[in-house]
Amino acid sequence: MAEDNICQNQDRGAASSVAGKDKQKLLEEIALLKKERNAVIMAHYYQNGDIQDVADYIGDSLALAQIAEKVKEPVIVMCGVHFMGETAKILCPDKVVLIPDADAGCSLADSCRAEDLKKFIEEHPGHTVVSYVNTSAAVKALTDVVVTSSNAKAVIDSLPEDEKIIFGPDRNLGGYINSVTGRDMVVWDGACHVHEQFSLEKIVELKKAHPEAKLLVHPECKRPIVMLADKVGSTAALLKYAIESPAKEFIVATEHGIIHQMQRECKDKTFIPAPPVDSTCVCNDCNFMKLNTLEKLRDCLKSMQPAIEVDEAIAAKAILPIRRMLEISKKLNK
Ligand code: 13P
Ligand code: SF4
Repeated sequence: MAEDNICQNQDRGAASSVAGKDKQKLLEEIALLKKERNAVIMAHYYQNGDIQDVADYIGDSLALAQIAEKVKEPVIVMCGVHFMGETAKILCPDKVVLIPDADAGCSLADSCRAEDLKKFIEEHPGHTVVSYVNTSAAVKALTDVVVTSSNAKAVIDSLPEDEKIIFGPDRNLGGYINSVTGRDMVVWDGACHVHEQFSLEKIVELKKAHPEAKLLVHPECKRPIVMLADKVGSTAALLKYAIESPAKEFIVATEHGIIHQMQRECKDKTFIPAPPVDSTCVCNDCNFMKLNTLEKLRDCLKSMQPAIEVDEAIAAKAILPIRRMLEISKKLNK
């Protein structure tokens, strides 16, 4: 195996800016504050490993929304990005939803402003608006049904075959869903700066060096990479595939935080991060996701800030397409 291809940061998943006794103290403070505040900690798979390790729940975007809706605790700390906190707040308006770093945004969500989508909808009358969960509450308020990467195909399949659809904002996910459903959705031209960065050439080289390795790809990646995949899916779907597959090696084309969980679940398997085009590092990080740290997690529990707020009028509209998605997902799982 080409050792150079193994991520030097791979166990950054488990590491942090603090270590040893300081880390132990921090973990104790978090545990105490969590109890005092009666809070629950949720983490997305792209979080640093030390945050995943303290979380009560870890999940993909769909699971985090589903769990937020169910938990009893009055305080949710959403260790993820802003739209994940917003979704939780819309679903649970009476709860306090904290995010360790208020600047943890999403380049994909930023690629679709509500005022621009409004114009786009006006230019495409008679279309049903399907939006990826990676969007602002204001965009969701203009939407008919929300999807995540876990359920996008199933939600689109649930719509009548002749329904005219606008899909946004991810052009790669939209193109992928068009290809697997045979639809001709009008796709918004947005993308995620992390998933667009994966290098096809470097992935092809890795596949040559590891002929037995399975290639796991998030559908936010560009089409040529998706076409090479052994499995295309959400973070949770890729994790499940890695756990269930008899293969021993995997090339992982999504944000590399997921490797922490893959490695935790599959101790005897090797996970090789797919490298980005422009970097000497062999893995691909979401700089927004990585803004959250254990220190900021402790601080937000202490000060109960930053808390996510959503304008009431926007939330009243945005909850409808989110609920519609959750209902469709519930039916599918029956
Ligand atoms: P998942 O829904 O697959 O967890 O993806 C979220 C995300 O932000 C992908 O970049
Ligand atoms: Fe957004 Fe991309 Fe980061 Fe996911 S990886 S949160 S889509 S910027």
